[in-house]
Amino acid sequence: MTIRAAAPGDFDAIAAITNHYIATTAIHFSYDPVTRDELVDAWQSTRERHPWLVLEQAGVIIGYAKSGPWRERAAYAWTCEVGLYVVEGAHRRGLGTALYSELLDQCAAFGLRSAVAGITVPNPASVALHERLGFVLVGVFRDAGWKQGAWHDVVFYQKLLATGPRGPNAGDAS
Ligand SMILES: CC(C)(COP(=O)(O)OP(=O)(O)OC[C@H]1O[C@@H](n2cnc3c(N)ncnc32)[C@H](O)[C@@H]1OP(=O)(O)O)[C@@H](O)C(=O)NCCC(=O)NCCS
Repeated sequence: MTIRAAAPGDFDAIAAITNHYIATTAIHFSYDPVTRDELVDAWQSTRERHPWLVLEQAGVIIGYAKSGPWRERAAYAWTCEVGLYVVEGAHRRGLGTALYSELLDQCAAFGLRSAVAGITVPNPASVALHERLGFVLVGVFRDAGWKQGAWHDVVFYQKLLATGPRGPNAGDAS
């Protein structure tokens, strides 16, 4: 099993993993499948500040984790939104923990201050994984999405990746 940075050739597999969960669950709030090109655009436009990782086993991509901007205004630039997906046949083998631990280490290395994750509930696996890795519940958005004929609550978690009063850039007073 290898965890490595995503590369252009990985995005058909990343789209397939995502589209399985879009089609069959409310874990992902899109109604329509994502295309490879949309994902490549998202990766290309954020990769200077955010890591995207894949989990590869015997040459097959079986999971991925990504970081991206949480909100757009300038002062939010050091808060990221993270997420991960592991193919169904490979759950509960420690792969999600390994993948996310590496992602969060890399987010910290990118200088990001905290990571935010939104989880459509119920999702006991994702809640347990986030809590195990030090995320703290910050709130519940009731009926935040309508999918598959039902309203769904989304719980938001946050993990601080750095602490202390210093700004992100030495001497930066903005
Ligand atoms: C959430 C997900 C990434 C977890 O990945 P995973 O590789 O199965 O997780 P791990 O094997 O590292 O498990 C880590 C811990 O999470 C918890 N966990 C995992 N699966 C669980 C389940 N089905 N029920 C309850 N807890 C679970 C356990 O505490 C587990 O540790 P343990 O096995 O030592 O008890 C995976 O279930 C997944 O891809 N789900 C679909 C997509 C998804 O929900 N993504 C998150 C969107 S917010």
